[in-house]
Amino acid sequence: MADQVSSARILEHVQRLGEQHPPIELASVDRHVHDPRAVAGRYGHVIDYLARVELEVDRNVLELLVLLPDVSEVDRMFYADVWQPQEIQHGLILDRLQQDLGRPAAEPELEVSFKMKILGALAHFSAIQDIARLLYYLTGASTERQAVLAYNVLYDGMHGMGEGAIAETIIAPIRRQEPGHFAFYRMSATELVQSGALRPWQLHLARIMREKSYNLVGTNGQDRYRAQVGGVAHALGFDADVEKYAREVGRIEAQLLWADRNGMDYPPYVLKALLDSIDLYRERGFDARG
Ligand SMILES: [Fe+2]
Ligand SMILES: [Fe+2]
Repeated sequence: MADQVSSARILEHVQRLGEQHPPIELASVDRHVHDPRAVAGRYGHVIDYLARVELEVDRNVLELLVLLPDVSEVDRMFYADVWQPQEIQHGLILDRLQQDLGRPAAEPELEVSFKMKILGALAHFSAIQDIARLLYYLTGASTERQAVLAYNVLYDGMHGMGEGAIAETIIAPIRRQEPGHFAFYRMSATELVQSGALRPWQLHLARIMREKSYNLVGTNGQDRYRAQVGGVAHALGFDADVEKYAREVGRIEAQLLWADRNGMDYPPYVLKALLDSIDLYRERGFDARG
């Protein structure tokens, strides 16, 4: 089981992230690419996907404002002062990289979906907002874990291709910032569950909503993006051991949300989302621009 987490510890974590991890400056990047065609051929779609997802942070912030009308100070501090300023730089840097590789710029989805607006309207009831908060933290933890896994493979892959400048001045600095985001969401979800603030019916509803709506990051509930995610999973080798990937991505919510199911390493819907994406990719290839 996860260890005890206090809100003071979360606040301290957020403050430390802000102090120790300023947003990465575009000027800090060494734009030397040894073989742009080879990099584009092997990782072009992956970089496009990551750039898009990172740039979609601006929509994520709008969603948050909708979902959490009474956002707490520490949540606000995290997304406004730490997370958004860091993620948007990740997006801009990766997007410039893909254009340096001769690829078109990313096209982030910046419109808040209708589904999200409905949930936002319901979130004015505080009992629903508490559920929305838990889902937000779980989504964040899952998303950030996916980011760390992707950047780890990409870092080694770029070195393997002799692209030291990309590995050391783009991927490494971005990768360094993701575990702190993951830790914030993990601690926040853990604290919320451990505090006992959620009634059994709220946890029950959270489980149902999670089962019905779980998405890997960047799919935005659309098949063309699901196919893209499947392609990224393939390009990064995650399709070679899908259960291992599901375990990495789903472990936190298996512990917090499904603690009564002994021995569950990951919720089945995490594995299903991955397998569905890989299937779609096999059917239609990278189809992100639909
Ligand atoms: Fe990021
Ligand atoms: Fe992140």
